[in-house]
Amino acid sequence: MIIAIDGPAGAGKSTIAKEVAKRLQWTYIDTGAMYRVVALDAINKEIDLADINNIIKAVDNIQIKIAHIDRNQHIFLNNKDVSQEIRSNEISQAASTVATIPEVRNKLVQLQRHLAKEQNVVMDGRDIGTIVLPNAEIKIFLTASLEERAKRRFKDQKEDSSKLSLDQIMKQINFRDTTDANRVASPLIQAKDSILIDTSGLTIDMVIEEILKLVKERLYVN
Ligand code: DC
Repeated sequence: MIIAIDGPAGAGKSTIAKEVAKRLQWTYIDTGAMYRVVALDAINKEIDLADINNIIKAVDNIQIKIAHIDRNQHIFLNNKDVSQEIRSNEISQAASTVATIPEVRNKLVQLQRHLAKEQNVVMDGRDIGTIVLPNAEIKIFLTASLEERAKRRFKDQKEDSSKLSLDQIMKQINFRDTTDANRVASPLIQAKDSILIDTSGLTIDMVIEEILKLVKERLYVN
């Protein structure tokens, strides 16, 4: 069985999807991490992000693996665990850029579908309910206002020298929203048969409870 959770950056998808998966004892799959790995590889190889041909060549020659350790997803680029390295602001922006390339998407979508065949999953991303797994039993579209998403990111930052201002965060999220929603290949869009949850003003727990209620009603799972 599949729960697909899509939505823009900073809507709380990963925190919520991870907890829903934990409570159901299903597997959580974070598909954004895969686009981040492609971006990391391109940056490591000093490929210009506008050089689509070389990014496609690079993606054909890398191995991306997912493993779960203590229920946490770890992602490996050519057998190296890069789960932490992919979390920088630079990689967030670059991931959104490489995700516009259809050849990149094709490779990652195959991996995502393969993972969903093997187990019950809660999968989050931008195109899970529309393109990757259109037959998902439950589809959620999580959103929140740009201001609310930026404020959450601002609060979540660690107190170190790389801390960004609220305005910088807002600009970065806005760039990603625009890139993700306006690309030609599988743009971020709400699936017609998905349930919209606007998380502005809701706590994480409230959203988790709402999703678990839906799961109980629709899938008869406790
Ligand atoms: O969910 P995230 O912030 O880790 O995703 C990083 C970028 O990857 C996001 O800005 C767009 C892209 N992405 C995508 O195009 N499709 C997905 N299913 C997941 C992520």
